Amino acid sequence: MKETKFDGSVVALPDTVALDDERSALVIIDQTQLPRRLELIALTEQVQIFEAIRSLRVRGAPAIGVSAAIGYYLAAKQLVNCGDKSIFFQKIGAAREYLASSRPTAVNLFWALDRMQNVTDTHSNLSVVEIVTKLHEECLKIRDEDIESCRRIGENGLKILGRSRNILTHCNAGQLAAVRYGTALAPIHLGHERGIDFKVYCDETRPLLQGMRLSAFELAANGIDTTVICDNMVSSLMSQGKIDAVIVGADRIAANGDTANKIGTSGVAILAKYYNIPFYVAAPKSTFDMSTPTGKDIIIEQRDPSEIGELWFSEPLSPDGAKTYNPAFDVTPHELITGFITD
Ligand code: MRU
Repeated sequence: MKETKFDGSVVALPDTVALDDERSALVIIDQTQLPRRLELIALTEQVQIFEAIRSLRVRGAPAIGVSAAIGYYLAAKQLVNCGDKSIFFQKIGAAREYLASSRPTAVNLFWALDRMQNVTDTHSNLSVVEIVTKLHEECLKIRDEDIESCRRIGENGLKILGRSRNILTHCNAGQLAAVRYGTALAPIHLGHERGIDFKVYCDETRPLLQGMRLSAFELAANGIDTTVICDNMVSSLMSQGKIDAVIVGADRIAANGDTANKIGTSGVAILAKYYNIPFYVAAPKSTFDMSTPTGKDIIIEQRDPSEIGELWFSEPLSPDGAKTYNPAFDVTPHELITGFITD
């Protein structure tokens, strides 16, 4: 396992998303294999990058955004010899649309692709080779900004958490959901390095189990006290006074503060309100979408029903004749959110 630094100490995971210039490839940790296998895969073709985002090999709003930016750059690089500049503009525009159609909810995907497209449009007077060089710079800038903003969220989160030590999180908004560090889990990683003994409860997060497979994996890998619970155990824990604070990430925050995040988040927020426990959303600026007025305007991804009744079982468990409803996200109304931890 490659080792990367987090503020001076060691975090035993490679970057979740990287650009390999030599191979002209997007290199990601294949999260569908975790926690059993830590596998890096190199993706060179648009269809592979699209599939990786759609099937959650790479997932989490910031990581999706950085992957799409690198994917856009790689598409442009492949078009260097397309002959005609107008063909370049037409094909890179099509690549943007294609990548943008991989998943609908996380705004970081569109934000990153818009930034890349903006570079193309702004430098349309340059040669294709020069535009591609600018796009290379921009995708690395987006990557670096992600690392820096997550680090800052870690610092800010640590201050906001104060003396809270028993933390509940839902889904994975950790280093596996960004390039490094993560959003909701950044304060935990940072605090742990500074000798703070957090105890973190991870909701398993049905149906795709990002809490158990990913959050618990990265926390335990970094030596943090980690406990996995089923999603329906939250109320029981809270009622016993075992949770001091909840921190989750976000896929899109509407202008009024309503927040789309992994399905189940709003239920946790309602319980936190009932038990008078602070509920924080940690997210970088790129997750705030001022063009979406309220949570009602956020498109919620619907996913394959087989994720509920078949994926983790040796044979299908959902009976014939029963329908399945599988929204990937829900919206937490802003009034249930104690505060946003941002960069
Ligand atoms: O479907 P996923 O795994 O991409 O959903 C991820 C989440 O809901 C995360 O909480 C969110 O993207 C924030 S990641 C910092």
